Formats: sequence, C-alpha cells, structure tokens
Amino acid sequence: MSFDESKWVWMDGQVIPWANATTHVSAHALHYGSGVFEGMRCYETSDGPAVFRLDAHLDRLYASAEIYGIAIPYTREELTRGVNQIVRINNFRSCYVRPICYLGSGSLGVHPGNNPVQVVILAWPWAPYLGAEGLKDGVRVTVSPWRKFQSRMMPTTAKACGQYLNSMLAVRDAVSRGFAEALLLDSDGHLAEGSGENLFIVRDGRLLTNDERHSILLGITREAVVRIASDLGYPVEIRALELEDLLSADEAFFTGTAAEVTPIREVDGTAIGKRTPGSVTEDIQQVFFAATSGRDQRYKDWLHRIDSEDVEVSDPLLQTVS
Ligand SMILES: Cc1ncc(COP(=O)(O)O)c(C=O)c1O
Repeated sequence: MSFDESKWVWMDGQVIPWANATTHVSAHALHYGSGVFEGMRCYETSDGPAVFRLDAHLDRLYASAEIYGIAIPYTREELTRGVNQIVRINNFRSCYVRPICYLGSGSLGVHPGNNPVQVVILAWPWAPYLGAEGLKDGVRVTVSPWRKFQSRMMPTTAKACGQYLNSMLAVRDAVSRGFAEALLLDSDGHLAEGSGENLFIVRDGRLLTNDERHSILLGITREAVVRIASDLGYPVEIRALELEDLLSADEAFFTGTAAEVTPIREVDGTAIGKRTPGSVTEDIQQVFFAATSGRDQRYKDWLHRIDSEDVEVSDPLLQTVS
C-alpha cells in the first residue's frame, strides 16, 4: 500500500489536501480507540468506478456508531456524496475507501462527555490484502494463541477502532512466525474468524460458515458469498465450526472487503484439500469478481456507480480544488 501525498481527503464535510487532514494529539480516539470505521472497495467497471455494497457498508457504519454512542453528524446522503467526491477528485479507477468517525478533542476522561465527532473519508489504491499470489494460489494460516473477544466484552458485530488491537496482536504473531494470516478461536474454542476476514469451509459440495454467536464481525462479503453460493446451487450451512472441520475440509477460504475471496491452502502445516484452491472456491471467486466488476447483471444492485449525478463536474467544491 502506498499513500500519495498529492491526493485529497474528505474531512468534516470538506475536501482538503492529504497533508492537511490532521487531528490533535488530545483526540479521545487516539487514547481510547473510540471510533468506528468501514472498509469498502471501489472497482473498475465498464461504467466507470463503482463501490461494492456501499449501502450495506453505510448501514454497518451507522449501526457501529450507534452501539458506541457516536452520533455521526452527517446524513447517509452526505457521506455517499463524500465517497463519490473523494473517488472522483483523486481520479481513482479502483481503490479502497475508508470512512472513519471518531471522537475528537475535549475530555480525556474515559467517559467522552461531549467531545466532537469527526468524520473522514480516505481512499487509496490497495492491492489484494493477502497478496496477489495468495488470492490465486491460497494462503498459509496459523491458529492464533490470541482468542477473539467475546460479544459480552465488546460488540463483535460493530467495526470499531479499539477492537482491532485484538486483530493486530493476532496478525503480528502470525506474520512473525511466517504465516500470511491468523485464525482466531472464540472464547469457547470454536473457530471464529481471521484477523480481518470471515471463514468458509467446503465439505462434500456444501459450504459451512459461522455467525455472530461465534464472535465474528458479520462481513458484507460473507453475506454476498452466501448469496452467490446459493445462486450457484451450493447448500450453505450456518453453524459452529470446529478446528477439526477445517483440518479435514475439502476446501476453505477467507472472505473480506480487503481480502476478497482468498483460498486457504494450509493451516499450521496441515494441507487443506490438495494445497491448491478447490473447484468450489474457484467457482465462487469467479462469480464474486464478475459481480464486483459489473459483468454479472444478477448483482448489479450491489454496485454504486461513482459517476452518479450528484457529483457533476460543476460541483463548486470540485471546481475549487481541481
Ligand atoms: C475482523 C473482521 N472480520 C471480518 C471482516 C470481513 O468483513 P467485510 O466482508 O464486511 O469486509 C473484516 C473486514 O472488515 C474484519 O475486520
């Protein structure tokens, strides 16, 4: 990933240069992780750039904010417009889009009082999260010594900044031991998810995945894959997953906005299937990328086109900065 200083950022309702998008060190979020965020991908399509499942990501952003009592001072329409502006003004054909809403400066008590809520939308080009090779050939993962926190400790269905310390510990440990990603068990020892992905197992032509009862973030890619699998005629079973289910699986893969659909070829040295992506994973990957690129009309409602009419070139904001 590279950040390009010549790019623009949407911050608190304004499009400003990347270098000016700063926050004071007394911000509550810096000290306590009090923010919520989203990660979406904008894909290149024959109709121009399009954000995959923008509506679902905005739904989850507002839901995460509500759980943490963070009142986002912008409407969905304003944030949608912000996403449009930031993709267009930066001339991205495809990119990753990161809206983040966090508590700014004011009280530094753990109780945030009336600290202002700041809202930023960043975008940058982002290659496949687990590597282009991982996306094609599969990744090697390890079961983390860190457990996924339980939903009575923190709301696992919310995507909140501080919650990612758990993921960071797990992925750092995995990478330091030579693996691409960590797989976390829940507090009862069932499989939960990757540090930034949901998990699917394929066995006898059926897909198995877990849900929020196992402390996972309910991924938007996961939901899309459940629909794609059903459309392809693969039965999907939602239930607790055990490590033995994974080790004896025919195939397994991760799903996530950043990781997309990434096959898992090995878990702590044990081969999954033939150590190469299986045919069900490949089928799903193919349809997923047909959906994200707008080539499969069945999923066209999942794409939000960026050149929609609310961001005309006549937009005064775009005129002032371009
Ligand atoms: C912990 C965790 N689980 C799962 C996911 C997958 O979610 P989504 O498909 O909505 O990106 C992510 C990525 O956002 C994540 O960080």
